[in-house]
Amino acid sequence: MTPPPTTPPPTAAPPEKPRLLELDHVTRRFDLGKGLLRRGRRTVHAVEDVSLSLAPGETLAIVGESGCGKSTIARLAVGLLDPPLGEVRIDGVRAGSRLPREVRRTVQFVSQNPWSALNRRKTIGHAIGQPLALHGLCASGAERDERVRELLEQVGLPPEYAGRRPAGVSGGELQRVTVARALAASPRAIVLDEPTASLDVGVKATLVNLLLDLRESLGLGYVLITHELDIARHLATRVAVMYLGRVVESGPAEEIFTSPRHPYTRMLLAAVPVPDPTRRRPVSPSGEVPSAVNPPPGCAFHPRCPYAVDLCGRERPVLVRIGGRRSACLRDVELLDATAEAEG
Ligand SMILES: Nc1ncnc2c1ncn2[C@@H]1O[C@H](COP(=O)(O)OP(=O)(O)O)[C@@H](O)[C@H]1O
Ligand SMILES: [Mg+2]
Repeated sequence: MTPPPTTPPPTAAPPEKPRLLELDHVTRRFDLGKGLLRRGRRTVHAVEDVSLSLAPGETLAIVGESGCGKSTIARLAVGLLDPPLGEVRIDGVRAGSRLPREVRRTVQFVSQNPWSALNRRKTIGHAIGQPLALHGLCASGAERDERVRELLEQVGLPPEYAGRRPAGVSGGELQRVTVARALAASPRAIVLDEPTASLDVGVKATLVNLLLDLRESLGLGYVLITHELDIARHLATRVAVMYLGRVVESGPAEEIFTSPRHPYTRMLLAAVPVPDPTRRRPVSPSGEVPSAVNPPPGCAFHPRCPYAVDLCGRERPVLVRIGGRRSACLRDVELLDATAEAEG
């Protein structure tokens, strides 16, 4: 007699799947050597104790003003920089020089400037074909040429572009070429560092639509790094807001955009132009991001924060999980109560 099938006890949690991409308590500083006055070494605190993760098919937007450490995160995520502290994992495997190529290719990179990303003297077909050759993804030269044409079509460009050089196409088209080159490696996620920053408004929209289509048809995950909140709003499923090297707030995109918690997120959102100008006028963020060489003590945002109290200059807030959100503000609860009162 066969024993009855055993079912797991109902309380057992399903084993957690490794995230596609994880940053686990990652810190990256840059040593600038001694200053002019030789008062000790100067260190840029570019990324401080950042933990982020990306699930398959998800779009995580990383937003914040210039100098907050977004590009450093991008370079860490795709292995262009190694973290001296903390760990980057792809599919649960620790990234680093010994990461198998097969795993490394699952996360690709698209940079802000397509001109510097492509060799001016080589054809577009050569650029897109390179990852195919590198990863041995095509059996023959003919198969590779065919795949290059397919990839061009996938990003909305005519296959004949394979024979052109970067100088022969527009900026928006060239950014599509770098997306096609990223796709050539058959990735599961792409890290996009300010992909629309160099493009005109209309061209930006076309690229955003392309990214939406590719996400839908290929199930791609994106880490979208941008200081343009309207782009993040279009694409993101989750958002992480960075200030001076640290995540100050993160959570589902919908929640962050409709009810920002952290005073810095509130300031950023208040600066976004709204479609109906009678409703609310955009307010420029006040002040400037302080130097990452000497970050302010306590909460790094306190010198610009309209809600700061004395304590904020002394104590650094930690990220606190509240439902699906995380926020690092010593005044979080008080501010929310005040907002609720004002709205109620
Ligand atoms: N290679 C480097 N050497 C020295 N400082 C750097 C280097 N790369 C970035 N930084 C500094 O690190 C901080 C974060 O830079 P970055 O990651 O480029 O920010 P963002 O992309 O948000 O503008 C800035 O203060 C920047 O000047
Ligand atoms: Mg940057």
